[in-house]
Amino acid sequence: MKLQGKVALITGASGDIGGAIARRLGREGAHVIAAYVGAAEAAAATASDVSAAGGSASVLQLDQRDPQAVDICMATVAQQHGRLDILVNNAAWNIGIPFPDLDSLTPDIWDRVLETNLRGPFLLARAGAALLKADGGGHIVNISSAGGISPGSSSIAYSASKAALNHLTRCLAVAMAPEVAVNCVAPGLVENTRMANRLPDAVAEGARRQAVLGRVGQPEDIAEQVVTFVTSTSISGQTMVVDGGMPGVMR
Ligand SMILES: NC(=O)c1ccc[n+]([C@@H]2O[C@H](COP(=O)([O-])OP(=O)(O)OC[C@H]3O[C@@H](n4cnc5c(N)ncnc54)[C@H](OP(=O)(O)O)[C@@H]3O)[C@@H](O)[C@H]2O)c1
Repeated sequence: MKLQGKVALITGASGDIGGAIARRLGREGAHVIAAYVGAAEAAAATASDVSAAGGSASVLQLDQRDPQAVDICMATVAQQHGRLDILVNNAAWNIGIPFPDLDSLTPDIWDRVLETNLRGPFLLARAGAALLKADGGGHIVNISSAGGISPGSSSIAYSASKAALNHLTRCLAVAMAPEVAVNCVAPGLVENTRMANRLPDAVAEGARRQAVLGRVGQPEDIAEQVVTFVTSTSISGQTMVVDGGMPGVMR
């Protein structure tokens, strides 16, 4: 087990990808703090999966749009665990608005997407900085999207929020060095998620066809990349696309 004795906070651990990341980090020996905003039962199910596999987990409610709640969350982590080694900024909010439909992307929707997907990860990094730095080997992994590299995905606001999250990763990698490594996973379409299941079959089929490896990602593939980042001591400021190899997103 590579993460024995470590404490990992995973936001959005009630969701599909966050749940897979939590279960995987738990299998590697980390104590998992499974954060959620509203889906308490789903977060509890993630935590109980971790425990059933022999790991250790707890749940934490957090609305990361609320700066005060973020500070309280980190104070709770400090009080209950006395340390934080890994922060996975996985939670996000989106709504489907076709790119050409500019009028439907209202200021309120724009703010909700950016507050959740960009400001939230920053606030969590800021509030958790002292804990993450304390042992000198902290890790942040942000979960963005291939839509943050090429213009696409659920809305312009979502795509822009994820592009900014990719750059926030680089900025924080500089700001929090040398004690904390900051990296990012940018998934393409991830099968077996509610987000992907909402898409018409033809979109998923098209993605599979375009992927040079003949397959797109699964939640466990994203979790695997998170483990790669948090067990490395020589990578920071990087965004890794996990999508089966889409020619349009290769850099
Ligand atoms: N699925 C895909 O195909 C795909 C592709 C590219 C990128 N991604 C990215 O991968 C990550 C996980 O996606 P997913 O498919 O697992 O999504 P999901 O199942 O919809 O999960 C989203 C999570 O975010 C949490 N959340 C939403 N608003 C929040 C807030 N204000 N404060 C705190 N938590 C909040 C939700 O909590 P509750 O459950 O409590 O509401 C939920 O746990 C996201 O960053 C997403 O953008 C996904």
